[in-house]
Amino acid sequence: MSATLRFDNIGKVFPGVRALDGVSFDVNAGEVHGLMGENGAGKSTLLKILGGEYQPDSGRVLIDEKEVHFASAAASIASGIAVIHQELQYVPDLTVSENLLLGALPNRLGWVNKRAAKAHVRERLAAMGVDLDPNAKLRKLSIAQRQMVEICKALLRNARVIALDEPTSSLSHRETEVLFKLVRDLKADNRALIYISHRMDEIYELCDACTIFRDGRKIASHLALAEVPRDTLVQEMVGREISDIYDYRARPLGETRFSVKNVEGDALSAPASFDVKRGEIVGFFGLVGAGRSELMHLVYGADKKKHGEIVLDGQPIKVRSTGEAIRHGIVLCPEDRKEEGIVAMATVAENINISCRRHYLRGGLFLDRKKEAQTADRFIQLLKIKTPSRKQRIRFLSGGNQQKAILSRWLAEPDLKVVILDEPTRGIDVGAKHEIYNVIYQLAERGCAIVMISSELPEVLGVSDRIVVMRQGRIAGELPRENASEQAVLSLALPQSESVAQAA
Ligand SMILES: Nc1ncnc2c1ncn2[C@@H]1O[C@H](COP(=O)(O)OP(=O)(O)OP(=O)(O)O)[C@@H](O)[C@H]1O
Ligand SMILES: [Mg+2]
Repeated sequence: MSATLRFDNIGKVFPGVRALDGVSFDVNAGEVHGLMGENGAGKSTLLKILGGEYQPDSGRVLIDEKEVHFASAAASIASGIAVIHQELQYVPDLTVSENLLLGALPNRLGWVNKRAAKAHVRERLAAMGVDLDPNAKLRKLSIAQRQMVEICKALLRNARVIALDEPTSSLSHRETEVLFKLVRDLKADNRALIYISHRMDEIYELCDACTIFRDGRKIASHLALAEVPRDTLVQEMVGREISDIYDYRARPLGETRFSVKNVEGDALSAPASFDVKRGEIVGFFGLVGAGRSELMHLVYGADKKKHGEIVLDGQPIKVRSTGEAIRHGIVLCPEDRKEEGIVAMATVAENINISCRRHYLRGGLFLDRKKEAQTADRFIQLLKIKTPSRKQRIRFLSGGNQQKAILSRWLAEPDLKVVILDEPTRGIDVGAKHEIYNVIYQLAERGCAIVMISSELPEVLGVSDRIVVMRQGRIAGELPRENASEQAVLSLALPQSESVAQAA
């Protein structure tokens, strides 16, 4: 089962971008090798080469010292490689077991015995400690659960080399633990693993070695990662020192700007109420599935409220649709920005401007292209979106840079009063997180009321003026910044009896 993997001098150029430039490193059997670097550094490109989706322009990939060429994804899979890509590939209308068995396990006659297959899947899922119903349709699952399916799919193939591209970015604490156990078991089984993540804690917890990329080049490989300090990694990734990525700025708070009173909906287990002052940043923490996104969807008019009142600047308002919310100056930047947000074929500039276009219509008929270009360039600069130009189609940007572009769309909306951000820094590198927090502080300084949902506890503690904690569909409590310790927040967030089902 064991294999060693070697990248030797790999190069890859896209129009206007040198994505990889002479990258060489080894991944040994029985090793978890972390890959870190800023958004657009070339990490996913390397995995796409390994997975047979892209061909390198130069260099070689070797497995057990033998050069391999993957003309297609199928060829890579056949060589015992499993790449779990950043963008999930799944068929929404199939069930969990059908998805897991896609392309696998037909019998000698080419038939799939569905009953036996389902039993097999159930057994394997249970053995992996994953709590999923094999009969559930994928579209009914959370992103986290779909991610689990994708990971299990690779594991069922018994791959020798397994590469995971930001697998935990939408997993809960519990699911992350399940995944980590899977990874450790695979490592113990002497497989070679590559693990991409922007979360430093995970890299230290899971990886033996780590390679850092910057602008398509390998900056360093650390073979004894445990001995390397964090600051060194950050410095290597961003090429400069960042002393405090949160850089919290206290600011005077005004009157209550936004009140939510007794909102009820299907996804909530109790009526929810909260307010946000002018200039205030309220962090919403909870385990994945605690009901934070669901509550905000009700508030924003994306889902139908059964009951409840919304008050903006002292005036009760009706928010029956998202359009109505936006007209009141309330925006929500969704968690699943890919699914709800991106227009893949449109340019970066068009994607940034989509929701505020109506402001640019001259006489209601023509788009003001100049203004569109200005807004796009402003955000490309502000958030350091890595793109050859604003005219690049957004689907060619790296995952994190797409996130930044879509986040800009909501921040570019003029006359914002209330900004709800759902996991605003998911998949975003340390340097760019810093820029995003700055934009959030600026909005607050302009008097916006800000709600920030985040599953990253250090981020919630680092950026919020006040923290509201949700648990199992209800608001469990709140803490002012001064009293908010990791311990205090977690004790509100954790259910009495924990289980994957509750955390998922
Ligand atoms: N198909 C493509 N066409 C054009 N440019 C591309 C293509 N794929 C990737 N790129 C560019 O190559 C560079 C590296 O992208 P890659 O996706 O490998 O980055 P990454 O390190 O995975 O970043 P992230 O952390 O944001 O996921 C980026 O500048 C990206 O825009
Ligand atoms: Mg990537």
